[in-house]
Amino acid sequence: MKYQRIKGTFDILPEESAKWVYLESIVRDAMRRFNYKEIRPPIFEMTELFARGIGEGTDIVSKEMFSFTDMGGRNLTLRPEATASVVRAFVEESLGKKSPLNKVFYIGPMFRQEKPQKGRQRQFHQFGAEAIGSSDPKIDAEIIAISVQILKDCGISQFEVAINSVATPEIRAKHRTELLKFVEPIADKFPSVDREKIERNPLRLFDSKEQLTKSLLTDAPLLSQFYDEAVKRDFELVMATLEKLNVPYSVDPRLVRGLDYYTRTAFEVRSSLLGAQDALSGGGRYDLLIQELGGDATPAVGFAAGMERTLLAMEATGNKGFTEKPLDIFIVAVNPDERTEAANLAGALREAGLSVDLDYLERSQKSQMKEAARQNARFAIFVFSDDLKDRVYTIKNMTTTEQQKLPYEGILRATLSI
Ligand code: HAM
Repeated sequence: MKYQRIKGTFDILPEESAKWVYLESIVRDAMRRFNYKEIRPPIFEMTELFARGIGEGTDIVSKEMFSFTDMGGRNLTLRPEATASVVRAFVEESLGKKSPLNKVFYIGPMFRQEKPQKGRQRQFHQFGAEAIGSSDPKIDAEIIAISVQILKDCGISQFEVAINSVATPEIRAKHRTELLKFVEPIADKFPSVDREKIERNPLRLFDSKEQLTKSLLTDAPLLSQFYDEAVKRDFELVMATLEKLNVPYSVDPRLVRGLDYYTRTAFEVRSSLLGAQDALSGGGRYDLLIQELGGDATPAVGFAAGMERTLLAMEATGNKGFTEKPLDIFIVAVNPDERTEAANLAGALREAGLSVDLDYLERSQKSQMKEAARQNARFAIFVFSDDLKDRVYTIKNMTTTEQQKLPYEGILRATLSI
């Protein structure tokens, strides 16, 4: 029987891992500059946490979660996102008592049982940040600025930031009533995929990819028509701060998010470098979630970005990412004595900080040299029995092809100095 990876999952192969490490290092460096500290919650949690946190009516909870029962009969779920986990940790560990404002970031795999396609997997990776403890609209702008900064650091310039305010539950309720008055009389005109949204969550009609739905909604009432003064003021302050930070954005009054916890600011960063799945990142404010999950009322805002999509966009711009550092030295040795000496020499050079490899496949000198070239080694060192009594080795610079005999100290000087 041949085993295959599960549909919608991918192996990150050794030849690809350098670009992942590169992206992770960009993320870590940006998070350091914005002073966010890493948090690593577990990969699975009680199903209830996500159901309550993300919302029972969302696609994620109603049809995309990888849930299972453990041996104790508990219902568990592989995390579809990390915000609910971060909030659970914040409440459980009383992080709010330790610091009035917690700024955290995470990098890791997420799991959603969606239909796989380009840029959409069942196991995918996100990096994200959450700032828990402040209602200042300037921190909403900081969160958006981090996601934009990381894209810039990746060399991606082709993207758009769309922002909206999804206001408060009270304002959404008023809007919902008016929206239903508009939509219900024409309900049977909507494509069947969207018809069920009318009952479940009519606001999500705005999220539809269907052209027909879009045109039916042309004159539909918008949430922005129901904003109160406080919502308006906060939204204006987010925009003013973005302008000061030189973060280009556009207001998309139809922007809705696929998770229920948002209040006020919501945003998405999209790129035409991607296909149909064009969202690089998304996020917003979630002032009611902490209380919903059992904590004291605490304002919070955050975002998460898809790493596969970020890498796709990075490659589309021509930034191939970090190329792995070449191997410093490949040691060529053929006879048993030479091979023993090669192993000792490798040990000493590795201890000194150099990357060193040697042959373990009983290959000839010629094919060992081929291997050194295939590995892009900077130097090849030949261990010859005849040289052992003088304690010297033959070192070849693989770029210049220049060759010389040197003792161990000379080898160190020659290889470490470049
Ligand atoms: P989200 O919009 O569901 O938000 O996901 C954020 C990003 O993850 C998306 O923009 C996309 O790039 C990537 N993504 C989502 N699903 C997939 C998938 N199936 N395959 C590949 N990439 C995917 C959240 O997850 C929120 N937790 C963000 C947040 C943090 N809001 C506040 N704090």
